[in-house]
Amino acid sequence: MRVRQRLIQHKHLQYLLCLVFAVAFLHAAVAQSNTTAGMTDSNKQPPPFVFGTASAAYQIEGAWNEGGRLPSIWDTFSQMPGKVANNENGNVADDFYHRWQEDVELMKSLGVQLFRFSLSWPRIIPKGRGEVNQAGIAFYSRLIDALLAAGIEPHITLYHWDLPQALEDEYLGWLGERVVDDFAAYAAVCFNAFSDRVKYFTTFNEPLSFVFIGYDQGIHAPGRCSDRSRCAAGNSSTEPWIATHHVLLAHVAAVQQLRSIAPDAKVSINFNTNWGEPMTNSREDLEASQRYLDFNLGVYADPCFLGDYPSSVRKAVPSLPHFTTEQKAALKKSVDYFALNHYTTNWVSASDSGLQKASTTYVRDGAPIGPQADSEWLYVVPWGMRRLLNYVNKRYHHPAIYITESGVDVPNENSMPFPDVLQDDFRIDYYREYIENAVLAATVDGVDVRAYFAWSILDNFEWADGYSKRFGITYVDYKNGLKRTPKQSAYFLAKLFGRHPNPGT
Ligand SMILES: *[C@@H]1O[C@H](CO)[C@@H](O)[C@H](O)[C@H]1NC(C)=O
Ligand SMILES: *[C@@H]1O[C@H](CO)[C@@H](O)[C@H](O)[C@H]1NC(C)=O
Repeated sequence: MRVRQRLIQHKHLQYLLCLVFAVAFLHAAVAQSNTTAGMTDSNKQPPPFVFGTASAAYQIEGAWNEGGRLPSIWDTFSQMPGKVANNENGNVADDFYHRWQEDVELMKSLGVQLFRFSLSWPRIIPKGRGEVNQAGIAFYSRLIDALLAAGIEPHITLYHWDLPQALEDEYLGWLGERVVDDFAAYAAVCFNAFSDRVKYFTTFNEPLSFVFIGYDQGIHAPGRCSDRSRCAAGNSSTEPWIATHHVLLAHVAAVQQLRSIAPDAKVSINFNTNWGEPMTNSREDLEASQRYLDFNLGVYADPCFLGDYPSSVRKAVPSLPHFTTEQKAALKKSVDYFALNHYTTNWVSASDSGLQKASTTYVRDGAPIGPQADSEWLYVVPWGMRRLLNYVNKRYHHPAIYITESGVDVPNENSMPFPDVLQDDFRIDYYREYIENAVLAATVDGVDVRAYFAWSILDNFEWADGYSKRFGITYVDYKNGLKRTPKQSAYFLAKLFGRHPNPGT
């Protein structure tokens, strides 16, 4: 465990409003405390952004064949042997479909202010197009009402990777042009049903992830790639770009629905990227780092904020489809805020190979870039998040930023016995450092951050990792009736945000 010194108090400055952020930043920067200090430091100002938790339908709901739901591509994929760790699937997951009331109470007891969840398209329109399943609408409607009654604002994601299998069967999902209209029709059903009570929507969660892991690497559904030893079908050089283009057109079409149904609602995409720090100060590495950001963040965020794909991506991918003038204009008005999912940072250096001509690593001169988490792709690098927030602020002209996912898994967490596993100091350190030294510091830099959603409220089905990786601030005992127990990080976060958690409930 890293040793820190205690936070210093400057109570006399609390009246000077203009200095409050600077003081908070100084606290964070000088600072440092062991893992209990943040919790005992009750006089500290809460950050100037609010506390949310996040989830996704397939990862928590279970009830895969109940209430009129039909299979999604993740049901199909996870039920194929060898695709998910331990051949696990989301058939039951956290059984949120039946236990959501308990989970809303849990969030209320922790003082959670915002809850981000996704709607399952195959629960709402089981065949992807056509008939609406009223039981699905009713489920989410009750959830929204309960959240509002608990003082928790719902943030809804329309698509968190669970495409109705029927559309994959009919026209290969995101590869088919028809998906644009089908998604817009699904979006309209959701906006009509929920926008009277919900003001924040995102159309897509992490298009970078589901497109490139699904159609380039073939590690996520629908499991397509060029490598025939792993993927029965697919083409890694063409399909990700076709899917990318359809996703952006589907986003625009859905936003047009929202503007007419609920003109006051706010919409975004949950963009995601690692920060890519140049390995050296050479011009080559600096340019490689920019290309890395173009290919990871810019490919989706540039069209939505600037009206077209980054020129580096266009140059490297001749087959990339073009937007019409009208589409560009619509794209530029298609997001109201910047929803950002962020976890980690890697080094980037110039390379001769690959589309990006950039190679990445987490190790430089034999040293890791930060402490390594349980997931091999996740290192704790708070300074990278501060740089990313400043980059987003500058490139996209000072948008309001909602950090819609951020979090960590604790090394070996899944093999720790209960109740030791609840003392998740590694996660507490991550949240303290990312919130204080990265996000709060970025607000002092002038970045407009409105919210920080911890991923995740519950341990859950982590896609190809199954249940082997635990990102919850609440422990889920998969062997004992899915019993939920908040980890210490849940109380830590509640107190950090000044929320007075009530461990008794
Ligand atoms: C943290 O600091 C407190 C108060 O100074 C001390 O009692 C406690 O032992 C420290 N804990 C660790 C893990 O260093
Ligand atoms: C992918 O498509 C390209 C362009 O059409 C073609 O040259 C290549 O052979 C295809 N690869 C596979 C694995 O089908």
